[in-house]
Amino acid sequence: MNTRRKLVVGNWKMHGSRKGNAELLDGIAGARPFGCDVAVCPPFPYLAETAVALAGTDIRWGAQDCSAHEQGAYTGEVSAGMLQEFGCRYVIVGHSERRAYHGESDQLVADKAKAALARGVTPIVCVGETLAQREAGETADVVKRQLAAVIHTLAHCAGEIVVAYEPVWAIGTGRTATPEQAQAVHALLRAQLRAATGSRADEMKLLYGGSVKPDNARELFAQADIDGGLIGGASLKAADFVAICRAAG
Ligand code: PGA
Repeated sequence: MNTRRKLVVGNWKMHGSRKGNAELLDGIAGARPFGCDVAVCPPFPYLAETAVALAGTDIRWGAQDCSAHEQGAYTGEVSAGMLQEFGCRYVIVGHSERRAYHGESDQLVADKAKAALARGVTPIVCVGETLAQREAGETADVVKRQLAAVIHTLAHCAGEIVVAYEPVWAIGTGRTATPEQAQAVHALLRAQLRAATGSRADEMKLLYGGSVKPDNARELFAQADIDGGLIGGASLKAADFVAICRAAG
């Protein structure tokens, strides 16, 4: 186990309702204190209510995407400045579902990360290979290419991001990377970050995501370069999410 303070982030994806969210947030807030940093990322319309529900707690919130643009005629998009106005500490960018269903390129993801940082919102940059890429032995090339675009675009600010390694084949499938598989990729990513940011890389948080559950979280979080998790399905049940946070603390 490393000494970096762990971070556990719930990615609610397109789930939730006003009533259900209130209960979920209550359940999480009521289980404090945690020995790690905790955040939730609800869909955009719920950010304001989430901010109210979590006011006075140390639980943070964020969004699941943002525009690369500051403002303008971009129907349907939400800017990092708007997220900042609603108290977002984080924004997920480059989730594999955005890359796959919305055709987001490595460069667009990098531009989104830059837009977020410009507004003081920490981007959680997702990288990860598909099953076909893993089986073809391309995992290292793919994740390095995805991260390289961000490092190049952010230049001296590259040390300010959070990175989430999320193998696409492990997302929502119940099939988790083994702790060894995850650690191997995290070590690669940290080495790449160290080459770009120097010793700053030793303080950066690298999260693992992909079917993290209460029963596998502890072993994943015990790896040298895994600093917490980005949690999808299991973040929708307070008891499971709280158990994962406890495993990180
Ligand atoms: P999962 O999703 O935990 O449901 O696999 C993780 C994610 O997509 O961030």
